[in-house]
Amino acid sequence: MRFEGKHILVGISGGIAAYKTAGMVSHLRQLGAEVRCIMTAHATKLISPITFGELSGYPVATGMFDGITNFDIRHIALASWADIFVIAPATANIIGKIASGIADDMLSTTAIATTSPILLIPAMNTHMYENVVVQENLKKLKDRGYLLVEPEIGHLACNVTGKGRFPSEDKIFTTIDQVLNGKSRLQGKRVLITAGGTKEKIDPVRYIGNRSSGKMGYAIAQAAIREKGLVHIISCNPHLKVPVGASVEYVETAEELKQAIDLQYMNYDVVIMAAAVADYKPVKSALQKIKKEELNKLSLALESTSDILLNLGQKKQHQFLVGFAAETTNVIENGKKKLIRKNLDMLIANDVSGTNSGFDVDNNKATILLQNGSMYTYPCMKKEKLGDIIIEHLIENI
Ligand code: PMT
Repeated sequence: MRFEGKHILVGISGGIAAYKTAGMVSHLRQLGAEVRCIMTAHATKLISPITFGELSGYPVATGMFDGITNFDIRHIALASWADIFVIAPATANIIGKIASGIADDMLSTTAIATTSPILLIPAMNTHMYENVVVQENLKKLKDRGYLLVEPEIGHLACNVTGKGRFPSEDKIFTTIDQVLNGKSRLQGKRVLITAGGTKEKIDPVRYIGNRSSGKMGYAIAQAAIREKGLVHIISCNPHLKVPVGASVEYVETAEELKQAIDLQYMNYDVVIMAAAVADYKPVKSALQKIKKEELNKLSLALESTSDILLNLGQKKQHQFLVGFAAETTNVIENGKKKLIRKNLDMLIANDVSGTNSGFDVDNNKATILLQNGSMYTYPCMKKEKLGDIIIEHLIENI
């Protein structure tokens, strides 16, 4: 996720979670955003404006009349500068003021003056959050198009456990990403993505597997979420961080993957098979761990797994079906053959002959092949970037 060149205005009102906003401002800058901060008077009692000034790299606006430069009235200047205005933490007080049109300080006045999207991050004591007035104010704002990331349930500064905790940065950044970088082009579309390498059991501790990490599938998922796709991941790797906004289920073997997909195939608009599925599995897997002494006489009989993608292509109805091909030679030729044989709409042919692209690394090198014969070759790049490109091609052709 990148926010290069984006203008993010952060409003900090007087909640104890203001210290978390400091971390958020720093991370937004690390992701390439330009950040400016406005603090309410109460917020400055909890954390110094110097902190936000240092972290954003720009003086913090605290008062209505403390910075008129070049006749640029600051609440207007900041209001029109912002691509998005994130109010974090948003206290019951500031939520109430915005909902009622009160503009009596820099933050509330800027909220009224801006035409950019406003994202509220409420964080407060549970009883305050659940208070009917606060809930009515939030509803009023949501109905008017204000964005909201709900607080989480957890331990609060007031030493109780309940709803009101400042949400994870991942959740906040996913919403910012959708607003600034997405165009909602997959809104309402159900997208199924498989990721990672299957493991075929030899015995309870050994398996035949491959080096697929799942990173490519997860990068595509992130790009689809940015476009507001309803993303479900079937993953063979339980250790990867799941993108906020995606649901996930875990499988191990090719057979489990097949069963999981078959159950839900008809419910999806888009299916992307980024998983590296085993082509062979042991005919029998031992119930007990095979002893070292048995190894001399051990031979492993293998049988084919079912080709899940081939099967999906055969029974395709409304789905847009995307396959991958991991190849070390004749990448495009082999990719074209798979596109046709498996009845796909799009195929990503990966050149996995090198060590710095493909399996279990952060980069991938791909040629995108479309059913209509078009072909797009890309240099080796970060999987996040390639995920964006794959989703762009998908949107153009869906
Ligand atoms: O997971 P990463 O570490 O990020 O690495 C990404 C990747 C290199 C694994 C990924 O980009 C990729 O190329 N995935 C597909 C790997 C693969 O299995 O390729 P294949 O050419 O063997 O299979 C062709 C297609 O058929 C694939 O979409 C595969 O999911 C599918 N297949 C294969 C075998 C099988 N039994 N059933 C299948 O559905």
